[in-house]
Amino acid sequence: MSEPFIIDGKAIAASVTDEIASRVARLQKESGVQPGLAVVLVGEDPASQVYVRNKERMALKCGMNSIMHRLPETTSEAELLALVAELNADEAVHGILVQLPLPKQIDEGKVLELIRPEKDVDGFHPINAGLLGAGALDKALLPCTPAGSVLLAKRALGQDLSGKHAVVIGRSNIVGKPVAQLLLQENCTVTIAHSRTQDLPALAATADILVAAVGRPQMIKGDWVKKGATVIDVGINRIPAPEKGEGKTRLVGDVDYEGALANAGAITPVPGGVGPMTIAMLMGNTLIAARRQLGLAAEPALF
Ligand code: GUN
Repeated sequence: MSEPFIIDGKAIAASVTDEIASRVARLQKESGVQPGLAVVLVGEDPASQVYVRNKERMALKCGMNSIMHRLPETTSEAELLALVAELNADEAVHGILVQLPLPKQIDEGKVLELIRPEKDVDGFHPINAGLLGAGALDKALLPCTPAGSVLLAKRALGQDLSGKHAVVIGRSNIVGKPVAQLLLQENCTVTIAHSRTQDLPALAATADILVAAVGRPQMIKGDWVKKGATVIDVGINRIPAPEKGEGKTRLVGDVDYEGALANAGAITPVPGGVGPMTIAMLMGNTLIAARRQLGLAAEPALF
């Protein structure tokens, strides 16, 4: 039995951000414009603080301008909306990202809908969701985790995914639905499965590409994976790890990784699979957004 190909998301993300950095340098040389990414963090959520710090660090590494706004937990909806309006109008800001989740007093949908779709580097605005649904990828900004997931699938299977059966487990607006639409755009036959799906193990076992985006640690078992299938694990779950010592934890995906190794042809690890791609694609979106705002031609796709 041959060992599966472990899809090294960290290395692939590094090659993508290297390419973005050289494109940013070229843009700056040719137009004098430095792409600017504004990141807004409201409150003190520890995981969000880590994510935001990583986004800022990567923007700087790619040669972009990082504009950080850290607001207190008590920020009102009106105050946040006013900041978004200011960033919408600021020509030096090409991408706007409001880190989620937001405190209870703020309506997330209202904030996300106020971000100008052209600056919506998360790809969460209904206009961008609609453009993706309509297949207008040249006009949309694509959500980062789904775009990164498809890029990784292509690194395992090659550029042409047509005719593959993709089973996406999970139907969230930020991962399940958009990744299904991207795979459809790649001419896959796509099935979206969820908590009410009947005989999920049997369905999963028909997948050439199995995308796990349910948010339940190690739910997808090894014997649900068809021999040779490509497994893209979007889950990031923290579980107790008493073997590492009392009170210790570790990160696992939505897939039982050890079990899946026996059947998968290729698989993304957690951590080090889809996770690093999310930030890489965010950088890609910021560059795309800047070029569009400057009226410049599109560059070759990163995936
Ligand atoms: N919180 C967790 N993941 C994300 C993300 O991709 N974008 C934003 N804005 N918030 C998040």
